[in-house]
Amino acid sequence: MGGCKDLCLFLINQVSFKLGIIGFGNIAKAIVNPLLEKKFINPEQIYCIVKSNKSFDDIRNSYPYKINVILANSIDSKLVWDAPIKILSVKPQQLEELIELPSNKNKKDTIVSVLAGVSLKKLERKFPNHNCVRTVTNIPILLGKGLTGITWGSSVDEDKKIFIKKIFEKSSKIYELPEDYLDIFLSLTASAPAIIALIVDSLSDGGLSGGLNKKLSEELVIEMIFGTILLLKESNIGTTELKNMVTSPGGTTISALNILEKRSFKSALIEAIIAARNKSKEFS
Ligand SMILES: NC(=O)c1ccc[n+]([C@@H]2O[C@H](COP(=O)([O-])OP(=O)(O)OC[C@H]3O[C@@H](n4cnc5c(N)ncnc54)[C@H](OP(=O)(O)O)[C@@H]3O)[C@@H](O)[C@H]2O)c1
Repeated sequence: MGGCKDLCLFLINQVSFKLGIIGFGNIAKAIVNPLLEKKFINPEQIYCIVKSNKSFDDIRNSYPYKINVILANSIDSKLVWDAPIKILSVKPQQLEELIELPSNKNKKDTIVSVLAGVSLKKLERKFPNHNCVRTVTNIPILLGKGLTGITWGSSVDEDKKIFIKKIFEKSSKIYELPEDYLDIFLSLTASAPAIIALIVDSLSDGGLSGGLNKKLSEELVIEMIFGTILLLKESNIGTTELKNMVTSPGGTTISALNILEKRSFKSALIEAIIAARNKSKEFS
């Protein structure tokens, strides 16, 4: 840990050290904000590219940190491509229009992609002058509570791996995985928040049907999920035991569970996760 801290400090403290960001939208900001808040890096060490004048002006005038912002296709974009580590955070459909600018260093720089469903092979074809890293992260990174799966492409230096993990650790918990697992990781962590949102909405509609107003119903559902998840996470109670604890013979809970069983709730969830995994595989 000490060695890593020293190494990260060493990298960052080099006057010339730059972190490049290609595409500075929602996800890139969620990754970069905690680095700046926690003073892991200085604003002037960040060089980002955006496409539109509007985003350029917004970042210049309203982003709380004075980072360097550059318009795509301007001559200054070379400053971003010069960075030894670049986070790639455009939409997958915007990837095609990017043009790699190779640096004149004798060592390859590294591109860290957060693009959903874009394989390492595709990244390495697109950026032949870079070592590539594929990550999958999820929306709770907005609150520093994300999960990030990382697959390293070939030839990424150990010191860069440590540094990249440090970047994502500021907003998420890291899992280093073979690429084959990234599609199911994406399905479970990046797509499933939509399933949870649907469950919250549906259960609170249940409350609404029972006569509560929607706002109170939703509040109760969110607090209930939060408490239940904490119990599962922080006690030794497992899912089956918890289910048994709240299900008494002939009682209310078994009446509810029987309906879900009749409507194939469990197999619908399993199929949903596998469908998202398959779609991600198809994209990549
Ligand atoms: N949503 C999720 O749950 C989630 C989770 C993890 C990862 N992701 C991935 O995160 C990536 C970014 O998503 P996002 O929601 O942050 O998108 P976003 O807010 O639309 O940001 C995209 C950024 O890319 C810039 N851009 C577009 N074309 C460009 C070009 N040719 N050169 C340089 N910059 C360009 C855009 O600039 P302008 O604003 O000027 O157009 C914008 O700053 C996606 O690939 C997505 O798959 C999403």
